[in-house]
Amino acid sequence: MKLDYQNIISKIYADLIGKENLGKVPDYIPELACIDENKFGVNLTDLEHNSFGAGDFKQKFSIQSISKVFALSFVYEKLEEKLWERVDVEPSGNAFNSLVQLEADNGIPRNPFINAGALVICDVLLEICENPKDELLTFIRNLTEEDDVFFNEKVAASEMQNSFRNAGMCNYMKSFGNIKNKPEAVIELYCHLCSIEMTCKQLSKSFLYLANEGKEPSTKKQILSSSKVKRINAILLTCGFYDESGEFSFLVGLPGKSGVGGGIIAIYPQHYCIAVWSPKLNLKGNSYRGMKFLEEFTTQTGESIF
Ligand code: DON
Repeated sequence: MKLDYQNIISKIYADLIGKENLGKVPDYIPELACIDENKFGVNLTDLEHNSFGAGDFKQKFSIQSISKVFALSFVYEKLEEKLWERVDVEPSGNAFNSLVQLEADNGIPRNPFINAGALVICDVLLEICENPKDELLTFIRNLTEEDDVFFNEKVAASEMQNSFRNAGMCNYMKSFGNIKNKPEAVIELYCHLCSIEMTCKQLSKSFLYLANEGKEPSTKKQILSSSKVKRINAILLTCGFYDESGEFSFLVGLPGKSGVGGGIIAIYPQHYCIAVWSPKLNLKGNSYRGMKFLEEFTTQTGESIF
């Protein structure tokens, strides 16, 4: 029997709205710091395209690192298993922008979701695409079945002006031969990738292929093979929240991905994708309310992969 998701979502939403909203909006990208920190949206889309939402779920926000999942899916489909020669699949146990492991690991990032890994993915995009930005947007627009997905040029420019750590990582990986293009071009693409804006509703629909063995349920288009989807979900579970991945898995029990814009997506394989947005981040850089919401949601529904 299907649960009454709308009722569960609305109740948890109302309960959390009445509670303390801890954490801090990040200020290291000045353009992101202007957001209203009390925004809060939730949307779940199931494989039959039923959609259940609460709050600001139709408002766009900066999806930041959530876009790394789109980029990985796009590149993995093209490069197949050769991709893993350039990026590993191990949790880093470190902050998303940490550089410390790169030297010991000879310039091979621990996984595609830390910044170093996403920079390598962007480098691959520059190698395999004629126009990576357009091709990436087209890939996402096909998944949302809407043309209304764009980069935010102001956010990209704001991030580019503050990209000293990413530039450091990129140059360092280039010294090991694991970046093939000019570091400036790789960073420019990476900052655009992070600047993509979407709503919770668009996010929960666009990631349904990860809940459906690689197939987009409405168009029936096979986006990725089921074996690749198994692998991406495994990396999401073990690496999607940086050094809080264990905690997310422990509290929520679903593969997922966060972004410093306050968004989180989580996948319940064979069933649905749920997206949450609340801009205030905890000390590990993940949405405070987003984590609380999903913990409560999987507790009340009893639905997790475990
Ligand atoms: O590279 C940066 O600093 C950010 N744009 C990273 C984005 C992000 O969301 C990391 N994680 N949660």
